[in-house]
Amino acid sequence: MSFEFGISKTMNRTYVHGYDPRENIRLQDQASTLVELLHSDTKYPPDSKVLEAGCGVGAQTVMLAQNSPGAYITSVDISESSIAEAKRRVEEAGCTNVVFRQGDIFDLPFGDEQFDHIFVCFVIEHLSNPIEALNCLKKFLKNGGTITVIEGDHGSTSFYPDSEEAHKAIRSLVELQKRAGGNANIGRELYPILNTVGFGSIRVSPRMVYVDSSKPHLVEGFIKKTFTAMIEGVRESALDAGMIDQPTFDKGIKDLYRTTEKDGVFGYTFFKAVAEKN
Ligand SMILES: C[S@@+](CC[C@H](N)C(=O)[O-])C[C@H]1O[C@@H](n2cnc3c(N)ncnc32)[C@H](O)[C@@H]1O
Repeated sequence: MSFEFGISKTMNRTYVHGYDPRENIRLQDQASTLVELLHSDTKYPPDSKVLEAGCGVGAQTVMLAQNSPGAYITSVDISESSIAEAKRRVEEAGCTNVVFRQGDIFDLPFGDEQFDHIFVCFVIEHLSNPIEALNCLKKFLKNGGTITVIEGDHGSTSFYPDSEEAHKAIRSLVELQKRAGGNANIGRELYPILNTVGFGSIRVSPRMVYVDSSKPHLVEGFIKKTFTAMIEGVRESALDAGMIDQPTFDKGIKDLYRTTEKDGVFGYTFFKAVAEKN
């Protein structure tokens, strides 16, 4: 759910993550804050082969490796530099069950039905062709194997005190991502997308992050360092594109920070889907 501009041969000027050191820190903050909510039920059996597609800087890879110490994890990303960083993190955490490969989801060098499970987190929201991407991944999955897809949905954001300017600033990010070929509201579409790709037994669970001042680690880790930092990150692009004026954007950011005060409240819903190939 975070981004910077980049180019991939398979994407139409799509947001690509993980080059900027500040972005790496933000992804790491995001991961540690949300790990329990999003991943506590992701555990793969010993000896199973797991493909993590679009691992980025490894923000979820360490969790995958630690939650499933007996599984063999192959993590791929299109970005060499992100993989180098992910490798460093995994080594630092002392995990020995992950191998990394640079590669494009649309053109990976794996054999058919090579993996028992596939894990994709915060990736398809950035692709102009998520159905094609999941179709490409599906062929690497054994019959009876599972795919887990986790995505955000910026349209789910709610907060107190409410602010039209904050909603406008958020919508400018949604619009920028749309112009880049992505979909920042893709969480709500996981069921129909997986259904279209032909997966069965699809189970989607909304995971709501609810924050008030009684949860200072989420005020800091989610509202400030994850969500508001992400919206702030598109300030120049949104202003340059003329999709919002500067006073409105800046007031929107101020109002998002206002939700971190004692009486403030913030909500955001992630969607986690698990489906089977059958
Ligand atoms: C927002 S990051 C998410 C990284 C990681 N899954 C996480 O949750 O922190 C999206 C990642 O998808 C990768 N990516 C985008 N398009 C890709 C493609 N066609 N093939 C492989 N990786 C891709 C980007 O390089 C980036 O690292």
